[in-house]
Amino acid sequence: MTTGHDCACAHRAVPPALENVTVVANERLAEGVGLLVLDAPRAASSVAPGQFVHLRVARGADFLLRRPFSVHRAHGERIEILYQVLGTGTRALADKAPGDRMDLLGPLGTGWSIPEGIAHALLVAGGLGAAPLGMLAEELAGRGVAVTVAAGAPCEERLIGRELFERVARRFVPATDDGSCGARGLVTGVCEPLLAEGSFDMVYTCGPEVMQRIVAVQSASADVPCQVSLERLMACGIGACLSCVVRTTRGVRRACVDGPVFPAEEVLWDPAESPDTH
Ligand SMILES: Cc1cc2nc3c(=O)[nH]c(=O)nc-3n(C[C@H](O)[C@H](O)[C@H](O)COP(=O)(O)OP(=O)(O)OC[C@H]3O[C@@H](n4cnc5c(N)ncnc54)[C@H](O)[C@@H]3O)c2cc1C
Ligand code: FES
Repeated sequence: MTTGHDCACAHRAVPPALENVTVVANERLAEGVGLLVLDAPRAASSVAPGQFVHLRVARGADFLLRRPFSVHRAHGERIEILYQVLGTGTRALADKAPGDRMDLLGPLGTGWSIPEGIAHALLVAGGLGAAPLGMLAEELAGRGVAVTVAAGAPCEERLIGRELFERVARRFVPATDDGSCGARGLVTGVCEPLLAEGSFDMVYTCGPEVMQRIVAVQSASADVPCQVSLERLMACGIGACLSCVVRTTRGVRRACVDGPVFPAEEVLWDPAESPDTH
């Protein structure tokens, strides 16, 4: 299986470019989680599901390095980004107000592959892993592919992207640690019985790496191809610095250009991310 734009994709791969973008809205969704809407006509018209943008969040020494964010949705001249506040860059992002300007480099990376002829896809989101799956869910549904979404979060409030998934998916199967919505426990717990139903011909997943690794194993056991989206620290975002390497059966790859989406069977998982160590 290959990933990216070799598929029958509605979006054509275009080279990344710098774009000055304007904040349209910045909404708090949950504690430490926000939805940023940017007026970004070039990125909006050219991004493919699973690709990301590299944002120069502000000026000054703390912001020389851009921060990578998946495009959650693209519509008209706007893109939407789901973000979790972790450090300096994402704190500055949370402070953005309508009218603020930033510059963006993108679209970047190789996104999800949508092979011709798939009929039913399972999307597995862990927490903010919902971010790169939103646009994919819309694209699949638009092509008449049935979509089932399994989403995991600590509690109902943190089921990020739920509204979009419930709107476009045939089935939305939540799992929460505290049982406040759907099954109590991890999303991998609902994934296994779903795969046992035997109706899926592709699995797409994003979330904590240990979760993606389990989903990859579950998919392989069910004989369903699986694609994973891997996060790495990224400096340049364009393949030049090698800060984002992923070890694969095809050698060392760069998450920023060869990924972030990879066929699960090619990934040589980091032993530190073994389910046994968590
Ligand atoms: C392809 C890609 C897509 C991403 N999409 C999203 C998204 O849609 N929404 C979102 O909230 N986050 C996303 N991330 C992660 C996001 O880029 C980081 O959380 C962000 O850069 C942190 O910046 P900061 O200045 O707030 O944190 P820093 O102060 O730089 O770091 C705070 C913490 O975050 C960790 N961190 C920093 N950069 C990354 C990174 N690139 N990947 C993973 N952990 C990191 C650090 O190790 C540290 O523990 C994505 C990362 C990649 C590589
Ligand atoms: S971030 Fe520089 S090579 Fe990937």
